[in-house]
Amino acid sequence: MKIAFSAPDLPKSGHLAITVAADRALGSIGASLDKASGGQITRAMEQGRFTGKADEVLALVAPAGLELGRLVLVGIGGAPGALAANNAGAAALAAVQYAGESELTLVVDDHAGLAIEAGPFAAEVAFGALLRSYRFDKYRTTLADDKKPSVKKVTVQTAAKGAKKAWERLEKIADGIFLTRDVVSEPPNVIYPETLADRCVELEKLGLEVEVLDEKKMKKLGMGALLGVGQGSSQPPRLVVMKWNGGNKGDAPVAFVGKGITFDTGGISIKPAAGMEDMKWDMGGSGTVIGLMAALAGRKAKVNVVGVVALAENMPDGNAQRPGDIVSTMSGQTIEVLNTDAEGRLVLADALWYTQDQFKPQFMVNLATLTGAIIVSLGNEHAGLFSNNDDLAAKLTESGLATGEKLWRLPLSPAYDKDIDSDVADVKNIGRPMTAGSIIGAQFLQRFVNGTPWAHLDIAGTAWTKENKGVVPKGATAFGVRLLDHLVATHYEG
Ligand code: BES
Ligand code: MN
Ligand code: ZN
Repeated sequence: MKIAFSAPDLPKSGHLAITVAADRALGSIGASLDKASGGQITRAMEQGRFTGKADEVLALVAPAGLELGRLVLVGIGGAPGALAANNAGAAALAAVQYAGESELTLVVDDHAGLAIEAGPFAAEVAFGALLRSYRFDKYRTTLADDKKPSVKKVTVQTAAKGAKKAWERLEKIADGIFLTRDVVSEPPNVIYPETLADRCVELEKLGLEVEVLDEKKMKKLGMGALLGVGQGSSQPPRLVVMKWNGGNKGDAPVAFVGKGITFDTGGISIKPAAGMEDMKWDMGGSGTVIGLMAALAGRKAKVNVVGVVALAENMPDGNAQRPGDIVSTMSGQTIEVLNTDAEGRLVLADALWYTQDQFKPQFMVNLATLTGAIIVSLGNEHAGLFSNNDDLAAKLTESGLATGEKLWRLPLSPAYDKDIDSDVADVKNIGRPMTAGSIIGAQFLQRFVNGTPWAHLDIAGTAWTKENKGVVPKGATAFGVRLLDHLVATHYEG
């Protein structure tokens, strides 16, 4: 879908959406439309209990006298900021996306009391519409015409200055989000470690340096945990390093690390058949790291960044690792693998150690669809946040609130260590049944960060959604791209 900006100028055809602020406050364009239609907008709002709250939307047939398709009123509430703008754009598009016309004119009216400048506000409305328009249709050959989205172009109309400038940056972030959604949506017969690594290499065109480590290199580095997870698959594992050098030469980078299990059967500790198809999303953490690197490179972020993704397929063949196997890691620590389905922490153990060892980053944030238990704790609204550093945790929490990708912190504590101390090795990969499953996973990872400031985001409940939610259509969410872009932009650039 295309996005354009223009000065206010009422169209002759297509759909028209217009913002309304709290308490039915129309801007000057809304007021003149209301007048031209003999007060029909006011009447519709009153009859429809529409008051202009954020997230409210009212779709009308355009009043007589206006040669338009639908007229959509979208609420932005009181003192609206970027998130209200995003949601208004998404709601406007959702109201007409399949309604037949190919164009939507989205008027961002001249409301008083915005929480951000009016130009950037209009750009955020466009961003919301674009994010909501995402679809993954490449494998459909028979989609009926009336099931296809009709809207091909959204023109955001604003009298304010600075919308286009703000858009340049947001457009690059959207590119990253769409890349994440694309790679995460791909089926597991198409995306496996080698092909996902190929997608990373393609990012060289954005100016990233990309290095792919194969089994031989990983063996040399001693990555027995990552290799152990991959050994039951005919698709060999990979570790990919993506570097963006936008900062000063020699400045320590920030680092992002992703779990990239391209399919998680559970291995020999095999999962039940029902719902196993969901485990194609188990590379969601690495999908986010890939899209984030594309976004940061696309917008030429002034910072040095390393993105590392640990890619493996967890399968149960004759060479698969067994419950009871002991593997040795790059850190030198040994792990007793008591459950082959707790594989994410195994690949991350080597990826985290490698990242701090090679790059001495200012901090590392890893993203992983690590535990079903985080869905029990937090559902699909917050991702779990675990950190050894209060300052980093606070910054992440704040970026979550600012971008709508919300985090909720859970504890780490030496008190949990006894649950993962092994009888025969340094650490075991599971704790006790039904006991603090997400914390145990995080506590395990912490043993492989070597004291580096670090945070683990457990995104098992937020990496994909089964329903449309505001700016996120059903499917892969790309959770974390906006959040971490915001973290970098707010605290680590320039
Ligand atoms: N990929 C799963 C976690 C998961 C479950 C993600 C549901 C999304 C939805 C992970 O590898 C896993 O299997 N974790 C186990 C850990 C257990 C064996 C300690 C789990 O959560 O059951
Ligand atoms: Mn698993
Ligand atoms: Zn998994």
